[in-house]
Amino acid sequence: VSGLGGKLLRIPGAGVVARHAADWIDLQWSYLIAQLKAVAPRMHGRLLDVGCGDCPYEWIFRPYVEAYVGVEHEATFALTMAAAGRDTRRKGRPPDLSYDGETLPFDDGFFDCVLSVQVLEHTPHPDRLVAEMSRVLKRGGVLVVNAPFSFRLHAEPHDYFRYTPHGLAALCVRHGLRVAELMPQGHFFSVVGHKLNSYLAFHVANMGALMQDMGKLGHEGQVHRGPRTWTLPFVVPAMLGTAAAARVLDRVLPDRSESLSYLVVAEKT
Ligand SMILES: C[S@@+](CC[C@H](N)C(=O)[O-])C[C@H]1O[C@@H](n2cnc3c(N)ncnc32)[C@H](O)[C@@H]1O
Repeated sequence: VSGLGGKLLRIPGAGVVARHAADWIDLQWSYLIAQLKAVAPRMHGRLLDVGCGDCPYEWIFRPYVEAYVGVEHEATFALTMAAAGRDTRRKGRPPDLSYDGETLPFDDGFFDCVLSVQVLEHTPHPDRLVAEMSRVLKRGGVLVVNAPFSFRLHAEPHDYFRYTPHGLAALCVRHGLRVAELMPQGHFFSVVGHKLNSYLAFHVANMGALMQDMGKLGHEGQVHRGPRTWTLPFVVPAMLGTAAAARVLDRVLPDRSESLSYLVVAEKT
């Protein structure tokens, strides 16, 4: 990003502070990271990350597993990364393997645990993908899957579904997986707050390119237009206030009929 926004980000240390603030404002991201940290100690042995992207969660699981293998669907990965116009090495690391999106290239029961974050909405065949995850999982092995319930369109045109907790549970049960836990990511106020902040970020302040410079929105088409700098002194405090209010109100007045996403922990039976 050129202009004032880019110059501010290049001040030593400013990029790190800005990324921390952006992650805290991004309710979906911060709830996800907190939940992944909470479930990570259940993982062990060989872990497969299906639809790993650039393996942004490896650091969370590494201390608990012997091997962390990332696999990607060759065609969709090439498309999203090409659209983003970026080197996958820039903020994470490339997948270990890619495949045709149909049959995972591993033997039955090869893995002790399987992780899949924000992938089920991007396949037109979720049943087939969950069946494959279950096949490569050992008996007693752990599956951790996250998928959105209320989230804007992203990584188009490969954005096919949204999931209720009951739909996710049924998907697991159909493929021999017993649901141990189903965790919502925020409630009504987080959904409203996240949508309001997305509107402010993308439509008022044009912060897409700035966020990509901070390493966010990696799987979305590259944004070239710089931020509307004069809006930032108003928009950034408004976004901070919205995120803070959403966090507090969701605790005080939780409406469990809404959530940004759900995370399932299941066991192969
Ligand atoms: C929104 S990205 C999420 C990437 C990563 N898990 C993360 O959270 O940053 C969705 C990813 O799912 C991948 N994907 C779509 N269909 C897939 C399939 N059948 N098998 C494996 N990966 C798939 C896409 O290539 C894309 O990289």
